[in-house]
Amino acid sequence: MSDRVLIIDFGSQVTQLIARRVREAGVYCEIHPFNRVTEQSIRAFAPKGVILSGGPASVADFGSPRAPQVVFELGLPVLGICYGQQTMCEQLGGKVEPGDHREFGRAMVQVVEPCALFDGVAAKGDEVQVWMSHGDRVTALPAGFKVVGTSAGAPFAAIANAEKRFYGVQFHPEVVHTPLGKRLLSNFVHKVAGCAGDWTMKAFRAQEIAKVREQVGTGRVICGLSGGVDSSVVAALLHEAIGDQLTCVFVDTGFMRAGESEQVVGVFRDRFNIKLVHKDASALFLDKLAGHTDPEVKRKIIGATFIDVFEEEARAVGGADFLAQGTLYPDVIESVSFTGGPSVTIKSHHNVGGLPARMNMKLVEPLRELFKDEVRALGRELGLPDDMVGRHPFPGPGLAIRIPGQELTRERLEILRKADAIYLDEIRKAGLYDEIWQAFAVLLPVRTVGVMGDSRSYDYACALRAVTSTDGMTADFYPFDMAFIGRVANRIINEVKGINRVTYDVTSKPPGTIEWE
Ligand code: XMP
Repeated sequence: MSDRVLIIDFGSQVTQLIARRVREAGVYCEIHPFNRVTEQSIRAFAPKGVILSGGPASVADFGSPRAPQVVFELGLPVLGICYGQQTMCEQLGGKVEPGDHREFGRAMVQVVEPCALFDGVAAKGDEVQVWMSHGDRVTALPAGFKVVGTSAGAPFAAIANAEKRFYGVQFHPEVVHTPLGKRLLSNFVHKVAGCAGDWTMKAFRAQEIAKVREQVGTGRVICGLSGGVDSSVVAALLHEAIGDQLTCVFVDTGFMRAGESEQVVGVFRDRFNIKLVHKDASALFLDKLAGHTDPEVKRKIIGATFIDVFEEEARAVGGADFLAQGTLYPDVIESVSFTGGPSVTIKSHHNVGGLPARMNMKLVEPLRELFKDEVRALGRELGLPDDMVGRHPFPGPGLAIRIPGQELTRERLEILRKADAIYLDEIRKAGLYDEIWQAFAVLLPVRTVGVMGDSRSYDYACALRAVTSTDGMTADFYPFDMAFIGRVANRIINEVKGINRVTYDVTSKPPGTIEWE
């Protein structure tokens, strides 16, 4: 087993970034909520180091969260970040007080003592740029600690008790605005905690294949393929692990992008030689959606139809003992909620989570420990084509939610598919594909008048959308150069019969959502 680090989460917005940085340093880590960590769970996880995250609470508040005291008693190295530093100080006998002014954003920290965290990064007397976000600050250190870095707003910006291997930073080393932060975290996990750095996708591949073989035995596994990155990687990994015990089912809704269905069949059946059922259910989906334009109704019909078709196909191949799913680590992390209560449903996501219970199958989820970019790296490691693993996210209901306000027909889907393909082709040619989180065309329910040649046209308008984002939760529109938009518009209007006007969507999320429905 690889060396591992435990991250105790106090609810910071950026806790996941700590995990990303630690894994980039080649060390496996997991995030556990502060109120679930016990001595027993720590011993079972067997970390070589512990990181305490930031969080929104104030140490001075009644009932504010604490790390289980045992964290400081097991002889493990501990790094406290922001709130994590404050609670560590408080729990070890130091003092934390509300600051005179809150400190947000960029700050300079001066290194005042040599320290393992800054090893090879900054020497005594150097200044490093960091990102701060705090109100409270440490005002008295616990016994055994000394200050190793100071800033104007945080005299105890970095502290250390080298003997016990306890370190604390008031700033956030995990964010990109602390340019050297990645190296500080790497120093903690390697130089302080002594982790080996052997967490690679090659190692993961071998480890996970062994795990899957053990879990599945001689059982049979069914995997739903969608053409997306996650299910593709699951299928390739499982095939390597259990060969013909795996059957993939690709329910073709008819709402895929241009060339996508062919690629799925080409890659998995023809190249990987995986047993693949390709069910063209497009007629059924269109039939079920006939007459419907309400976004939520459409989403629910698509979800239910998908499950029905999948179930039928699974039965037709003789059933299975296991269902493979592309669940990722961000879906697994239990979030720390200070407010509790359910949140409002903005959209019913295409979700097949109810399937395993309904079909009485056990789950195989080989990607449960991975972040999205790790899944991409694993896909490359497994030999999947680059354009498949690097692909933008695509919603389960597909093009069906990109034709708002009017009934879905094959003709409209074909018009949208062509416009979308031209747009993506131009984005790729301009070398912008990887800078953009998601880009797509939307067929609008309005027809407008145009003049083409000497004749009047009366055709659909189409909107182009492109956003930057890191997780799909918030997003900003991509600031294309207008000449680029003009070029795309020109091509779409010239090449796609049925569209005579193109607009660009400049709405961020919030208040908009990424998809139009
Ligand atoms: P919104 O439109 O809610 O989308 O801002 C956020 C992200 O989720 C994707 N999306 C979906 N993904 N099933 C999915 O698997 C769905 O039903 C679904 N709806 C939206 C969307 O493309 C964006 O990446």
